[in-house]
Amino acid sequence: MALYSDVVMDHFRNPRNVGVIEDANGIGEEGNAVCGDIMKIYLKINDDEIIEDVKFETFGCTSAIASSSMATEMIKGKPVSEALELSNKAVAEALQGLPENKMHCSVLAEEAIKKAIEDYQSRKNK
Ligand code: FES
Repeated sequence: MALYSDVVMDHFRNPRNVGVIEDANGIGEEGNAVCGDIMKIYLKINDDEIIEDVKFETFGCTSAIASSSMATEMIKGKPVSEALELSNKAVAEALQGLPENKMHCSVLAEEAIKKAIEDYQSRKNK
């Protein structure tokens, strides 16, 4: 069996939502101390708490890039409350699975999104 699903390879080769949002109102970064991979998520959230745009920069492995790409697709256009519920398992399932020893890569996406939303909420409360 191939190590990675076709969906993983597609998102790795043609990642969606790569880049920076200059006027982002929520930014989150998460890293993994073991492998050294880093993921940064930019959110543009409107007054109705809808994620209008999302972009990412990931310095990481195949699974980390595919997870960032898939996770950003899954929260784009969604309410903040829904994005907060996104689990790494849901991202991995949408990717048609990740190898067991690569599940931690999808955790980066979940955590980076949560941090970006926390950043948005703390800016809003200022
Ligand atoms: Fe580090 Fe995948 S090996 S995020």
